Formats: sequence, structure tokens, C-alpha cells
Amino acid sequence: STTTPEYAVEFAGKVALVTGAASGIGLAIAHRLAAGGAAVVLADFNEAGAREAADALSADGTRAAAVAVDVTDPDSVEAAVRFTVETFGALHLAVNNAGIAGPSDPTGAYDVAAWDRVIATDLSGVFYSMRHELPAILAAGGGAVVNMSSILGTNGFAGQAAYVAAKHGVIGLTKTAAVEYAEHGVRINAVGPGFIETPLLRDSDEEQHSLLVSLHPQGRLGTAEEVAELTAFLLSDRASFVQGSYHLVDGGYSA
Ligand code: NAI
Repeated sequence: STTTPEYAVEFAGKVALVTGAASGIGLAIAHRLAAGGAAVVLADFNEAGAREAADALSADGTRAAAVAVDVTDPDSVEAAVRFTVETFGALHLAVNNAGIAGPSDPTGAYDVAAWDRVIATDLSGVFYSMRHELPAILAAGGGAVVNMSSILGTNGFAGQAAYVAAKHGVIGLTKTAAVEYAEHGVRINAVGPGFIETPLLRDSDEEQHSLLVSLHPQGRLGTAEEVAELTAFLLSDRASFVQGSYHLVDGGYSA
């Protein structure tokens, strides 16, 4: 006889919404939640990428669907949450992961329009997402949320004023929502990855890449799957007393 590994059933009957799921960390999280038995909605600005990924998951037997979303637009986020509930009947688990990096310039020369774009995506996007997810999660009787911050949610980084400010803000938002919703059975936590090998780093050259590697005592960058594993833990009942905190997955960067 075969035994089903525990992770294959831990999200059975749960419906998950992952933003930024067409690429990188979000895509790995969608795969990990699907492997755990969740129905998964992959929401992304890149609708074609989200659809391709959802089709691949569906072909493997997962209940998966794609929806276009722009997290900088509250109405778009509201529509994605509505789509999730209409498609799979509820929303229990949300991963607010969509994000962009922005240009690299010192604060005194940082482009104001770029600031607005990064804050709109990486900070306001997380608020708009929780703004519409939390009522749906309450309606489902509870659940869990993970917001994607960064090691730059607690550390500065030269050239990245907007990104660093947004990622610090995500931790504050996470803590506040967590204390508000704890008594209603919604656990809300933040994840802080070190530098991860994803398309987000596509603009860094070899020299920048080896500089980034040198900042991680493990001597390498992380993988999207390693971030997905921590995220899955935080969303699972195994993390039942984990509330309103920030969890690193950074190869020792912050140690
Ligand atoms: P990625 O660029 O591979 O994927 C980000 C996804 O978000 C893309 O599919 C993109 O289309 C989507 N997206 C961007 N703007 C959007 C919007 N307005 N509405 C909807 N979707 C949008 O990036 P990666 O590396 O997977 O990043 C995911 C998250 O992890 C981001 O929040 C990022 O800040 C965070 N992170 C990444 C690290 C890294 O080194 N790659 C380190 C720490 C945190």
C-alpha cells in the first residue's frame, strides 16, 4: 500500500490566491500549495504567464485558475478576489507576493515617478490585497495570509530607497492586520527572503551577482522553492501559533 505524505494533504479543501504567480517566487509558491492539495488561483499582471502556469497545474490534476490582476489598482484586486470565490467557492489562504525592484539610485537622485510606482506595487499593493482578501477569508471562517517582504524589510540597501521603504512598510502592515484579525482565526505573517535567483534579478551583471552572493554566508543565492517551503509552513496548521511575525529565509544574510 502507499502512504500519502502529510504535505500532500495539508491544504486539501483549501483555496489559495497567490499574486505575482506567473514568475519566480510566486510561481514556486503556487506549485507548493498545489502539491499540498490546495485549489490555487494564480493572479498576475502577466496574464498569459499566469494562464500558462495554471494550465500546467491543471494538467497535473490541480484545481488551478488564472486571473489578470494589477495590484496597484484596488478595483482589480477586488475583482481577483471575487473571481477566486466564484471559481472555487471560498478564499482561505492568500500570498501577497507581487512586487517590482525599481531603479538603483541614491536617495538624492531617486526618480520620483519610480518611487511612486514601487510604493504603489510593493506597499499599497499589499494593503489593497489584504483589504479585499480579509473579508473573504472571514466569510470562509478563517485562514492565513503571507505577505512577501524581504531582508530589505529590516535592513537598508544603497540605491533602493523605495523598495526598502515599501518592504519595511509591509512588515508594519502585517503586524497590524495580524493583531486585528487574530481573534477571528486569521494568521498573518511576513516572509523575508535573501536574494533569490529569479527574473527579478535579471538586470544584475556578473559583478553585481557575485557581490550579492558574497553577502550570504551560505555562499549562494536562494531558490524560489526555498521561499515557497517557508511560506507553505506559515500557511499550514503546523504554524498554528505563529502570528504577526517576520520570518527570514536568507542563507544567513541578516545573521
Ligand atoms: P519576479 O519578477 O520573478 O515575479 C514578480 C511577479 O509579480 C511577476 O510575474 C510580475 O508580472 C508580477 N507583478 C509585478 N507587478 C505587478 C502588479 N502591479 N500586479 C500584479 N502582478 C505584478 O520576482 P520575484 O523575485 O519572484 O519576486 C516576488 C516577490 O518576492 C516580490 O515581492 C519581491 O520583492 C520579493 N523578493 C524577491 C527577492 C529576490 O531576490 N528575487 C528577495 C526578497 C524579496
